[in-house]
Order: sequence, then C-alpha cells, then structure tokens
Amino acid sequence: PLSSDPFRPEWHYSAGKNWLNDPNGLIHLNGTYHLFYQHNPSGDAWGNMSWGHSTSADLLHWEEQPVAISCDGNEAIFSGSVVFDPDNTSGFGTPGKPPLVAVYTSAYTDASPLRGRQAQSLAYSLDRGQTWTKYVGNPVLDRTSANFRDPKVFRYDGPAGSYWVMAAVEATDCVVVLYRSANLKDWEYLSSFGPANATGGDWECPDLFPLAVDGDPADTKWVLVVNLNPGGIAGGSGAQYFVGTFDGVHFRSETTVTEGLQPDGSRMPDYAWLDRGRDYYAAVSFNDAPGGRRIMIGWMNNWDYAGKTPTKGWRGAMSLAREVTLTRLPSGGVVLRQAAVGPFDGLDGAPDVRRISLGSRELHPGTVDLLAPDSDAAVGDAVSTAASAAARIDVEIEPGTAARVGLLLRTGGAERTVLAYDTATSRLSLDRRESGAVEFHEDFASVEDVHVPLDAGRLRLQVHLDACSVEVFAQDGLAVLTDLVFPAESSTGMALFAEGHGARVRTLDIRRR
Ligand code: FRU
Repeated sequence: PLSSDPFRPEWHYSAGKNWLNDPNGLIHLNGTYHLFYQHNPSGDAWGNMSWGHSTSADLLHWEEQPVAISCDGNEAIFSGSVVFDPDNTSGFGTPGKPPLVAVYTSAYTDASPLRGRQAQSLAYSLDRGQTWTKYVGNPVLDRTSANFRDPKVFRYDGPAGSYWVMAAVEATDCVVVLYRSANLKDWEYLSSFGPANATGGDWECPDLFPLAVDGDPADTKWVLVVNLNPGGIAGGSGAQYFVGTFDGVHFRSETTVTEGLQPDGSRMPDYAWLDRGRDYYAAVSFNDAPGGRRIMIGWMNNWDYAGKTPTKGWRGAMSLAREVTLTRLPSGGVVLRQAAVGPFDGLDGAPDVRRISLGSRELHPGTVDLLAPDSDAAVGDAVSTAASAAARIDVEIEPGTAARVGLLLRTGGAERTVLAYDTATSRLSLDRRESGAVEFHEDFASVEDVHVPLDAGRLRLQVHLDACSVEVFAQDGLAVLTDLVFPAESSTGMALFAEGHGARVRTLDIRRR
C-alpha cells in the first residue's frame, strides 16, 4: 500500500517509498512493459543509486517489483538500458532460455580501483527481469572517462548489417558516442556526434531510433534524443532531439542549427525539444514495444529542485508514457508529435468514470467555472464530486478576436495554474506561480511557454491532471508542456476563461473519477 500523501500520483509511476529519478531499461517482453529506474532504496534523497523495477500491462497501472540491480561498495548503478537477446549472442542464457541483458553505467566509488570513473557494465536475467546477476567481466566498455554514461543499446538491422548498437554520452563534452557489438561484451567504436544545438550543460541519457515520417516506411528518419542539464529550454533540465539519418555507423543530423542570429533577430535558436515545460527529463524510449510503436517515458522533474519537492516518504514520479511519431510540417520540417498513453482511454462508460461534454458555445469575457457552472453552461454536476484531482480535459477553442483564452486548472482558494493562449503572440503558456506550494525552492515558481500556431483558427488541447502534475499536449501533440504543481488536495476546480470578445469553445470533454 502506498503511503498516503496528497501529492501521490494516481496515473503516474512513483516508487512506493524513497527516491526515484531517470527511467532505465525500458523494454516490452511477452505482454509486459518493464520500467527500471534510478532509485535510492533507503532514502528519499538521491544516493545509493540502484535500479528499481516496476511492471505494467498497459503503461498506466504499475506493480512495483523488488530492486533489480543494487549498488555495492564499489559502484553505484547509473542509468542504462535493457535488451532482450533472443539468439543468446551474449552467452548469458541457453538456447531455450534467452536472457534479458541490462547495460548500465558503473559509477565507481572511492573504494574501487577504478574510482572516479564511469564505464559500462552488464547484468543479466534468466527469469524475465525478476532477478539479475552482474557479469563477472565488468566493465565491458571503459574509456577511462569520469563522465561516460547512460548507454542506450538497441538492435540495428539495416544495410550495414545486424548488430547491437550503443549510444552513450561523454556528458561534459556534449558528445554522443556510438559503439557496436556482436555479443554485448566486446564493443567497437563507430562514431561521435556533437556538440550541436543546445549545449548549456551536460548531455545525458541519449536515445537513437528510427521512425517512418507520417507512417511511410520509404521515408524513414532517425531521431537522436539528447537530454541536457542544465541548459534546457525552460531552465534546468530539458530534452532536445535531432532528426537525421543513421547508416549503421554515423548519425547525421538534418536539424542542427548553425550559430548566429536567427532570421527574426532572436538570439536563442529554436531547437527541437520534446517538452517546453520544466519537468520532462531523462526521456528515453522502450525497446521492442509492440507493433513497432515508439513509446517514451521521462522523469517528471528537474534537477534544479528535484531534491526539494514537498512530498513525504517518496520523491519523484515518471511522466505518462507517450507515443511519439514523426510528421512533416507544411514548412517541410520533420518534427515529433507526442500522444499520451492516456488515462481514461477506453474507460468511457466505466462506472467510476464521470464524463461531461460541452458543445459549441460562445466564450464570453470572464470565466466559466466548469464544476459549479452558471446555468447556461450546466456542465458541472457530473464531475463536481470527483474523488481525486486526476482528470483529463480535451478542448478545442477558437480564440477569434479574444486577446487571451484558456483554462484555470487546480483552482481552489487563491490557488490556480493558468494555461493561456495569447492570440497576439500565438504563444501557449503554463503559469504555476500561484499553483500551490512553490516556496520550497526559489526556482520553482515559473511560467513556461511555447509558440503554437492555430490550425484553421483553432487550438486543440489535451490536458492531463494528476495529484502533482499538469501535462499539456497542444495541436495533437505538436507541442507539449509538462510542469509539476503542488496544490492543496481540495484545489480540484477548473474553469474556462476569455479576455475580450469573439472566442468560441467548439468542444470540451472532461473525464474524472
Ligand atoms: C540523469 C543522470 C544520469 C545518471 C543518473 C544518475 O538524470 O544524471 O546522467 O546516469 O542521472 O542518477
């Protein structure tokens, strides 16, 4: 049973007890999604880094498993990945019993002869991830570097052959290094990528995967995800990505922005980011997700204040899982679109799900309280008695001539988190300055924003609320804003608002329990 805490998420994974950071070893095997993660088994602050473990059939309901790989006197177990080795290339299994192989970073302690170094090591499981054995030949890849970490290993099958590829970072150099292997034990250097685009901090937790642009296999591109801390777009930790090609040896970016002023005179080039909020970091994707889907999870946090968030007995949660696809914009650019693997998906009609819908209506200047509405709105009854803060809002708004439109979220007393669209600047902002507890860290109170062009005059938003988070997917996932918030448990109100005349709500759906 989870400790009771008003901030304990309902739909986001958090460890039953103690500290959690990066998702590790994301893999799907025989109908089960495995989520390993950076975990301190004995405290709610970062330390004793080990791999926690949780499993799920649907990416929404998680079952915590015993700690998978533990730190010892010689090494902390930093971030990495897991592969399924069906042909037993590693020799850790037997033909009838292929292994799961974890590739993790050994961060050597002062007690180790390798003190101060970070190198890549293996552990394997012959019981579908329940128990793990460290390989006696560790480390398997050592560059004598103090900042070589976060290996993402995947199977490459392409024109250049069929082998394991590892993407890892030389973090402080802002470089991704690529290696290949036939057996996961012997690694051959392939190439390096970077520095490029955002380099305002350490490069961490890379990922490299192919995706068909708009579903066309003949138009496949490779995406290189590079998490960055600090130097993220919203301050502190952030996740950037590059789109390009990978020939089995080199990743070549087609989205590297060269130095200098932008055409519009702005200084900060508009790099590609997975999320424009403050709390989506160390994002990586699942290996072997069914149907060739590419599903990512990030740590819903920011190193700026991760150690100070006001939770009790546990600290840190994952984002919702997000399916990513590549799409070509009318401008020709190829970008990622993200869709939450959504709470409430497929739950319409379930006895404990309350759904309200609002048809097309004018949005007058002012606010429409969605839980205790004015008479003509008449939407609130079904959701006002909701049992938790978790909710999903799907709304399509036509801002028209209004100056600002949007949603007030998690309202109650003086608390509110404001999601606003500014028609003059075409920017969508998420303002958590009055969201609840913000004073636990001086950098927490903030406003994030992102440029969001209207689509035929319309703004589509999908908003996921949970006990301590807001995730906003705009224009069907072309822009995403994720922020932690820590409101009172009773602040479950929500409202629509407009400043100025001429706005319309086309559709609105709220789902709660
Ligand atoms: C990213 C990170 C990784 C490292 C891990 C340690 O958040 O700093 O680079 O492997 O966390 O917990």
